Amino acid sequence: MRAPRLNPVSFVSSAVPRLLLAPMEGMLDARLREVITRLGHYDWCVSEFVRVTNAVLPNRSFRRAAPELARAARTPAGTPVRVQLLGSDPEMLARNASRLVALAPAGIDLNFGCPAPTVNRHRGGAVLLEEPELLFRIASAVKLAIGGRVPFTAKMRLGVHDTSRAIEAAQALAAGGAELLVVHARTRDEAYRPPAHWAWVGRIAAAVPVPVVANGEIWTLADYLKCRDESGATAVMLGRGALADPFLAARIRTHLTDGNALDGHDDWARLSPEVLAYWHVVQAEALPRHAPGRLKQWLNLLRRRFPAAQALFDRVKVLREPAAIAAVLADACSAEAVAAPDLPLLSPA
Ligand SMILES: Cc1cc2nc3c(=O)[nH]c(=O)nc-3n(C[C@H](O)[C@H](O)[C@H](O)COP(=O)(O)O)c2cc1C
Repeated sequence: MRAPRLNPVSFVSSAVPRLLLAPMEGMLDARLREVITRLGHYDWCVSEFVRVTNAVLPNRSFRRAAPELARAARTPAGTPVRVQLLGSDPEMLARNASRLVALAPAGIDLNFGCPAPTVNRHRGGAVLLEEPELLFRIASAVKLAIGGRVPFTAKMRLGVHDTSRAIEAAQALAAGGAELLVVHARTRDEAYRPPAHWAWVGRIAAAVPVPVVANGEIWTLADYLKCRDESGATAVMLGRGALADPFLAARIRTHLTDGNALDGHDDWARLSPEVLAYWHVVQAEALPRHAPGRLKQWLNLLRRRFPAAQALFDRVKVLREPAAIAAVLADACSAEAVAAPDLPLLSPA
């Protein structure tokens, strides 16, 4: 099915805010996307990046990053999944985008935000923000390859060392054909250190003819409201905040639709079965040495919001053996949860 094209005007003025779930390589995989998009309603999510170097990748590379491609590019909750590409070669990115389109993703996104030194050394991610002319060529080539068959977006930071070329970079991407920009409101050098400079999102939005989505450091409803005030953007992309508080999207939507706070969503009892079910799935699928790490990563974020997650994290963090972790979880999570780890599973990728 052809994904709907974005209309910039309705996107920005829509009464219901657009909430997007961020790509997070090594953390927010299909299993966690499944949980998070079920607990909070997101308009779409973006896969972990697929790195493009000097080859046209086989279909399995795209399917590995987005197993949802096997099910109409949607999570089991029905949330569309867009696939993100990372690279610097316009022609190779275009050829890979062409191949990816045939797998019918809900959209294609380009990564100009990754700060990882290895990626940046190979001219990928945020480092390209210093080359607006190249950004334009990449976006133009990918746009042509996609040929309007799926939505095309890009995600950027404010720059590498400073914000001096932020506007130029955003304009290059928009001029090249990106239909929407997500702005992670920090430079590459600022990595993930607070604060995020939300006012910059507004400056960029004023300088480009496409919708601009704010991203960075939104952990709570109060952060969302502050970001909206400072950036003027109603559309936001949530990353770590969505994992720390899986009800954050619901909290924001509820507040904006009826002005109320969401009741009962601080209830760890609602979340602990999800954690347990996630553990069962990860344990079944990941290599034994990787499974504990996946769980600990999520608990590490959950503990910011939920005291019970802190207690669980403290018990689990020193454990390496899956059996020992399973015992702690069984003990910490409710008897009901233990009896019914009821996660609707994706079929294996
Ligand atoms: C572990 C981790 C992995 C990430 N992977 C990606 C990625 O694959 N692609 C991308 O565009 N951004 C990636 N990001 C950046 C996030 O999408 C987001 O821009 C950033 O975390 C700021 O948003 P937040 O403060 O809501 O987390 C990653 C961030 C983290 C913490």
